[in-house]
Amino acid sequence: MFKRSASFLIFIVAIPAIIYAQSPVVLPVGNVTNTTIEKQKVSLTTTNAKAEITVYSANMIRVRVDKHQLRPDFSYAVIARPLTTKSDISETADVISITTDSLRAVITKKPFAVTFYTLNGQVISQDEKGLQASWVAEEVTAYKHLQDGERFVGLGEKTGNLDRRGSGYTNWNTDAFGYAVNQDPIYSIIPFYIGIHHGLNYGIFLDNTYQSDFNFGASNDRFSSFAAQGGELNYYFIYHKKLADIIASYTALTGRMKMPPLWSLGYQQNRYSYYPETEVMRIAQTLREKKIPADGITLDIHYMDKYKLFTWDKERFPDPSAMNSKLEKMGFKTTVIVDPGIKVEKGYEAYESGLKNDIFVKYTDSTNYTGQVWPGWCHFPDFTSPKGRAWWKDQVRYFANTGVSGIWNDMNEIATWGQKMPSNILFDYDGAGATNKQAHNVYALQMARSSYEGAVEATQQRPFILTRAGYAGLQRYTAIWTGDNRSEDDHMIAGVRLLNSLGMSGVPFTGMDIGGFTGNPSIALYARWIQIGAFNPYFRNHTAVNTKSSEPWTYGEEVLEISRNYINLRYQLLPYLYSHFYQASQTGMPVMRSMAIDYTFDPQVYDIQFQNQFFFGNAFMVAPFESKEQFGKVYFPKGLWYDFYNDQQQQGLQEKIIQLSMQRLPVFVKESSIIPMQSLIQSTAELPTDTLSIHLYKGTVTNNLLYYEDDGKSYDYEKGIRYERLISYDPIKRSIIFSSVNGTFKSKFNHWKLVFHGFSAQDKIKGTSAVNAEKMAFLTPVSKFDPQGNANAPETINISTMVIGNSNNKFSITY
Ligand code: NOJ
Repeated sequence: MFKRSASFLIFIVAIPAIIYAQSPVVLPVGNVTNTTIEKQKVSLTTTNAKAEITVYSANMIRVRVDKHQLRPDFSYAVIARPLTTKSDISETADVISITTDSLRAVITKKPFAVTFYTLNGQVISQDEKGLQASWVAEEVTAYKHLQDGERFVGLGEKTGNLDRRGSGYTNWNTDAFGYAVNQDPIYSIIPFYIGIHHGLNYGIFLDNTYQSDFNFGASNDRFSSFAAQGGELNYYFIYHKKLADIIASYTALTGRMKMPPLWSLGYQQNRYSYYPETEVMRIAQTLREKKIPADGITLDIHYMDKYKLFTWDKERFPDPSAMNSKLEKMGFKTTVIVDPGIKVEKGYEAYESGLKNDIFVKYTDSTNYTGQVWPGWCHFPDFTSPKGRAWWKDQVRYFANTGVSGIWNDMNEIATWGQKMPSNILFDYDGAGATNKQAHNVYALQMARSSYEGAVEATQQRPFILTRAGYAGLQRYTAIWTGDNRSEDDHMIAGVRLLNSLGMSGVPFTGMDIGGFTGNPSIALYARWIQIGAFNPYFRNHTAVNTKSSEPWTYGEEVLEISRNYINLRYQLLPYLYSHFYQASQTGMPVMRSMAIDYTFDPQVYDIQFQNQFFFGNAFMVAPFESKEQFGKVYFPKGLWYDFYNDQQQQGLQEKIIQLSMQRLPVFVKESSIIPMQSLIQSTAELPTDTLSIHLYKGTVTNNLLYYEDDGKSYDYEKGIRYERLISYDPIKRSIIFSSVNGTFKSKFNHWKLVFHGFSAQDKIKGTSAVNAEKMAFLTPVSKFDPQGNANAPETINISTMVIGNSNNKFSITY
């Protein structure tokens, strides 16, 4: 009897230990048993794992945990090493604390758990008590306490609401033809998100390329979690006071984009597919005849000989170099599509050379993997091997040699018919060796990298690279578009959110198929989509095979005029846009910005009525509405706002119902904005007039813009051959200061025309020249298409202007 009770007691006492230490179903990290402290790093042994906590910068702490000895450090995403920075690390019997200049991490030992605090002791993020980081088989999960009112934004190309609270997501690059607006996963993954609560915001980047799963309080009310199906728990915790600084730190870690070629910011005309050459030339010619400014023509898979990579169909395109040079003379650059699959066909050059160089991914028995795509059965280059990348770089020279300027990387999830690529395919993974489970999510990133590096080597110029799939860090090499959307209103709006989310995840150069890929848009939807596209970083019209033509003139005269208006605007705004691309290259700040970036703690921003409003650069707030709506509700955050088309002013912190029209996208300008614009051109190959207009909007807050120019094509700007000038507006001092020029590039503009909005005669603007009163309009009135003809009345704005000769010296305006 006695014996029995004793063993019963032992059983009770031992339960937690059994669950924690020996459970075959869930293996927790356990307790800390040993600690080694270095200057910026703590190495730990726990009951069931090894861990390492590293101070990466004053604002960033990395946590690595594995149930094995930690493997050699390697990442396709991270390019930065830890910065030397102050970190006080101390240890007691119960805890280890790490304090930097901006945050404190406290690691409890029994059990191992991490809490991040602000320096004044507020909890930023905390492991959920009782649910330690743990393994279920090979899947490792970290559980973070769900804070009261916590919101989550980012996570790359993910459908759903701006605030991801209550949702869960899977990270697995997926070919998602005609995806539903709530489908997950789709093409590209970036396991980085930002959490927001109690006036604080932080970022978490899980650098693990296996399939990962993020849960932001979906089906539970306790935690947010992130899990990976294999490999380490390896995450970077970033804390800053401002959300924009979190993006800056994240992009310091995973890299920033370089300046894109200027032409890639112009309008791009595309379809699946333009062929033969006469059709391509007809499209180019019509764009010019109808005065639709454009810079790019994109060729989809039908340019190839039976879809075989690195070939041209000789009948459709007898002389590609001659065609591309004709296009070039007309101010067009050519972009061509590439897929990773190399057709298995004896005698086909790329196939034979791939075999000879042994660059294809393989099954475990060393035979090349074969999967089916457009050309039929294919092998696939291993972009995770230096040899595979070198081979591809050599192949893409083919394009530079035929006058192609852009490489569009498609189907690189990898997409194969059947969509079930086996797990037992082996990749080099830069010498470490990996199966498809670990390499799948970085395949596209490495393909884009190879295309980018190959194009740079071949031309020594900035190439334009576009990709469909990707992983964290893709911004270093490529722009991305959101794949095969549908010609439906909710898709257009969901696309806006996808681009906003990508922007908060470090990717500034983004676009969606304007007009929609599958199906045919209505006239009103097409018009609205083109207007929104003019305010997207990458502006490309594209449509699927067998859909109606989708060029701006195919939806009737009215849509042609509307499209022309907004494409014209895009071209006039290029100096503004280009300056913002430069900012993205320097700070990671996206060009297209969710309102959550600047108004993070304003709850209205996350309201589903307003979550689609976005900023285009720092000045424009765009309110996109579905094309069938007659009225829309706009939220104006704190501040003063101008209606872009008529300068009507609107106080912030209020909602307003506005009337919508097919001819006009609701766009507002933030007070104190500085917007440089140029004269209209038909392509970036054409020079604008030598007067740059700088629009200044009177306001009550300080603001500045780093105005930027360079040659638009080479990397000389990295050597200082650029033109930078800080324009600062200070409403207290009533001054606008133009700094002296930084850099040695000679500006295209000899005159600066300052255009004052919202200033009155009482403001007495003083500068080096006289002030004039003028009227202007940003849009050309659309014709009235009735028998009487005529045009609608223009929406005009009263402005004051001052023209100044552009010298490189500092000057100021006061009022
Ligand atoms: C799939 C891409 O997403 C689409 O844009 C392209 O037109 C087709 N592949 C054909 O290449």
